[in-house]
Amino acid sequence: MIGLGTWPMDDTEAGAAVLHAIDAGYRLIDTAENYRNEEGVGQAIARSPLARSELFVTTKFNAEWHSYDGVRTAWRHSIERLGLDYIDLLLIHWPNPAQGTYVDAYKGLAKLLSKGKVRAIGTSNFTQSQLTELMDATGVVPDVNQIQHSPLWMRAEDIAFHEQHGIFTQAWSPLGRGAVLDAEPVTAAATAHGVTSAQVVLRWNLQHGASPIPKSTDPERQAANLDVFSFELDAVQMAAIDALDGTGPAPADPMSFGH
Ligand code: A2P
Repeated sequence: MIGLGTWPMDDTEAGAAVLHAIDAGYRLIDTAENYRNEEGVGQAIARSPLARSELFVTTKFNAEWHSYDGVRTAWRHSIERLGLDYIDLLLIHWPNPAQGTYVDAYKGLAKLLSKGKVRAIGTSNFTQSQLTELMDATGVVPDVNQIQHSPLWMRAEDIAFHEQHGIFTQAWSPLGRGAVLDAEPVTAAATAHGVTSAQVVLRWNLQHGASPIPKSTDPERQAANLDVFSFELDAVQMAAIDALDGTGPAPADPMSFGH
């Protein structure tokens, strides 16, 4: 339910952070072609004492590979950089609607899935109508849509749509890049439960049905970020944190931003 985000770590940072994270109990590691740290992530996985099957590795590919055959090339490049023989979850990183070829990319992903080259497929930053387009074109439901989700930008309608279709929601930048940690409703809930602000915000994501992938290079923070299953935010605390929605910087717009 909680994974390690690795943006913006370089190979060296990611190598150390992933090893610490695995030691702390993380089993889901999230990287991307665009982060340029797949080699570091892969080296950490190779050094870890765990069997490959105990880990769940997600990566994502860029717009350059948005074609039926291109996805296969993207998959091969990621496999080589990671040094793995399969990927657990492969995602289209951004829809890039101006390029307009994400349906072709998704058909390529569905083919990889049917061939057993990946264990699951999905999208990142896709809107409800783009997800509908993919499902209509292929009959294949994305396993995951990863979205920017934090108290600064709630996505209740998108999460409800995902749940209705059986798409699992992952939250990127679940801590709002740290910008939400000093907000009063967050610190008040942290004091009430005897936990940190980050733990409150991660718990808030989970209680809204979004599985967070917080980034931290710090071993103590990594461990604390997993330790969010021994308390529960009540309805008043949830509503107070919900009220932070829209109070931060604008989120990335997947209709115009992407790579
Ligand atoms: P660091 O890597 O130094 O721990 P997000 O995942 O929302 O993008 O947020 C990532 C940011 O939040 C990073 O700057 C990270 O810094 C910081 N961060 C991660 N975990 C914690 C924590 N438990 N307490 C405070 N800051 C954290």
